[in-house]
Amino acid sequence: METLIPIINRLQEVFLTVGADVIQLPQIVVVGSQSSGKSSVLESLVGRDFLPRGSGIVTRRPLVLQLINVAPLEQRRQAENGTDIDVYRDEIIHPRTMLQKLFLFVLQGISPEPIYLKIFSSKVLNLTLVDLPGITKVPVGDQPEDIEAQVQEMIQSFISNPNSLILAVSPANSDLATSEALKLARDVDPDGRRTLLVVSKLDLMDAGTDALEVLLGRVIPVRLGIIGVVNRSQHDINTQKSLEESLRGEQAFLQRHYPSLASRCGSRHLAKTLSRLLMHHIRDCLPELKSRVTALSGQYQARLSSYGRPVEDHSTTLLHIVTKFASDYCNTIEGTPRYIQTTELCGGARICY
Ligand code: GDP
Ligand code: MG
Ligand code: NA
Repeated sequence: METLIPIINRLQEVFLTVGADVIQLPQIVVVGSQSSGKSSVLESLVGRDFLPRGSGIVTRRPLVLQLINVAPLEQRRQAENGTDIDVYRDEIIHPRTMLQKLFLFVLQGISPEPIYLKIFSSKVLNLTLVDLPGITKVPVGDQPEDIEAQVQEMIQSFISNPNSLILAVSPANSDLATSEALKLARDVDPDGRRTLLVVSKLDLMDAGTDALEVLLGRVIPVRLGIIGVVNRSQHDINTQKSLEESLRGEQAFLQRHYPSLASRCGSRHLAKTLSRLLMHHIRDCLPELKSRVTALSGQYQARLSSYGRPVEDHSTTLLHIVTKFASDYCNTIEGTPRYIQTTELCGGARICY
């Protein structure tokens, strides 16, 4: 089943290149109020800390992350006999600092135009994730007056997609009943068929309180489940605590405070749950996908025939066009300065590590 996900990612890319929302594909969308821990949750799913995160930097554009699982570098090196240097070159060209610059560059104004990023790593499950700007109530700094409406609309457009799985992030140290994330999710998914609740900041609850009732679903039941997590704190980030260390700390915290729930909570369990849900979701969507692709293919076939008989063997021509497109595309993403441009123009970028 897991092999379905890369296929869906490819399909999504294909449809993006033909221009529009021709087809709606399953993806995981993260929503929640500002600073609830959305980017932190994504970061631990990705296994790398390159997302704009913290109280100062905020996500201003939807970010579509395609996580693609590849074999570890050493394994790849052996398999490829050192002949294919593509992967290593990308590693040298796009270090983390480059990514951060990229984000600062493209995240300047609020815009509903998504940024697409592919992440190849041995440390990720095959998932497509969308990081959205947080729900804001009050405009700050250079933000426009109608910021709340703008952001709400942007979030709505992503989560109202019936093929989106909604990851509603709500901090444990604020009342779940007032959770903006759940409110938004309820609007578009009243039956809770595609909403998963992530309770962040378990470590920041007042002394003498815990989230046991919330995590057991006794406060607000959530059909697909409620998963508590402990992400890195701002202090952890400042002192450069590694993600691995943070995951170990999270497990230790859960064992100590929620021993009965430890195996059903935490970032690793969240990643596994998401992967499973996505696979079910894709399986459920397949018949619909197939009929849409067939219809579309019929349309293009008809249009193609209307151009008359091909002068030469058209399978070769098509192959030629595709190959040229691929090599042109690869050329544009090679240099560092053009890398940013490519993202802006095509809404796409490729990163390996
Ligand atoms: P976002 O605005 O929803 O994307 O939130 P961020 O992921 O940027 O997190 C906002 C701040 O909260 C950062 O300083 C994080 O380090 C911190 N934070 C997020 N999750 C947790 C958590 O589970 N525990 C602690 N202690 N801090 C967290
Ligand atoms: Mg964020
Ligand atoms: Na929230």
